[in-house]
Amino acid sequence: MTNTFKKLNLVFATPIPVYEIADYERINAEIIREIEVRREKEQGMVRSNRSGWHSDLDFFARKEPAHRELAQKIMQCLADATKRVANREALENLRLECDGWVNVNPKGGYNVPHDHPGAFWSAAYYIQVPPPASGGMAGAIEFIDHRSAPPGQGMVKSPYMRSLHAMRPTPGTLVVFPSTLKHWVHPNDAEEDRITIAINAKIGVDPAKMKQAKVAAAHESNRQVPGLDAPGGEAPAAKEAKPARKKAPAKKRQPAKT
Ligand SMILES: [Fe+2]
Repeated sequence: MTNTFKKLNLVFATPIPVYEIADYERINAEIIREIEVRREKEQGMVRSNRSGWHSDLDFFARKEPAHRELAQKIMQCLADATKRVANREALENLRLECDGWVNVNPKGGYNVPHDHPGAFWSAAYYIQVPPPASGGMAGAIEFIDHRSAPPGQGMVKSPYMRSLHAMRPTPGTLVVFPSTLKHWVHPNDAEEDRITIAINAKIGVDPAKMKQAKVAAAHESNRQVPGLDAPGGEAPAAKEAKPARKKAPAKKRQPAKT
């Protein structure tokens, strides 16, 4: 008798949706100029970056035209990514709340292993990606599964059980991943800067949609009152009118005694 293979369950899958931003060549050229202007005025900050420039976390509030256009396109992709992995009904009254910042890694610059606590999605958008001078992993983003690979993985090389996955996206690419997925960026070994936008997207309640939902719910509950317009309902009994209070007869005025 032959054993029967029934199913290969793939559980705890890690979704990494990838997009190409529309008209990215023009947007990238414009945003590089906007970033140059920002770098002359803004000191930047140090987070996971080593060397290079890390802007404030205000990418989605910036007024520069290419920043705004790109922010809008990234939000569209993040909304699409969420719909692809989520229960549609669960998304009804929710919205994405995004933070973003610019990373400029010069030669030797890199990002240490980290994750992005507090967000649902994290993402990286690629503006300028110099080819590695060494031809190796320079400049690549590498994801690290918090579950280590089981012993023997090095020999069998199963695509399902490895704990590292590197990617070198090209300009115009948006890579989205769960914020809890650890990652790091290999040092840039090229003379040209590596320029990316990093993004965090939290799931929040949408007050406007909640208000609409409450109005719709109230309307629905009215519809369920028998007699309004529910089929077969009877008109609700009119409230019994209270009997009018009898006015006390006006007292006859006694003529004033003289
Ligand atoms: Fe990151």
